[in-house]
Amino acid sequence: MLPDELREALEKQIAHVDHPRELVVDAMLALQDHYGYLSDEAVEQTAAMLGMSALEVEELSTFYTFIYREPVGKYVIHVCDSLICWMDGFESIKNYLCQKLDIEVGGTSADGLFTLLPVCCIGYCDRAPAMLINRKVYGPLTPGKIDQILEKLRSEA
Ligand code: FES
Repeated sequence: MLPDELREALEKQIAHVDHPRELVVDAMLALQDHYGYLSDEAVEQTAAMLGMSALEVEELSTFYTFIYREPVGKYVIHVCDSLICWMDGFESIKNYLCQKLDIEVGGTSADGLFTLLPVCCIGYCDRAPAMLINRKVYGPLTPGKIDQILEKLRSEA
């Protein structure tokens, strides 16, 4: 169930645009932030608010790397696998994350805290190898820095 406050905020935004569907990404992200991922219910609610079909929202959701149609951990780690990061040690960083979290890429840690996903260049090549966690950038990464980051996030969870 969508809280009234969130629904009203979105409806207010929608009322100010000529074509509500232009807000589809904002709406999907807002509902995802609320539910933790873009559930089927959230797809239907997004569609209803924007005057779209659920299928249209579903199709659009598949274009966006940061929209999750399956449940994810509290912290979603997107480790960059594009050229510069790859040249600067992506493979060993990815392997270290997998080992520390005891998961494969695409998986979620047993405590439900971390999901590890790949991502194309996130625009922080000067900080390669880099990753995003819940839209915050980290890099250049080393095993020691990863330990610190994970420990801090665990303590805040
Ligand atoms: S290649 Fe990784 S941030 Fe650009």
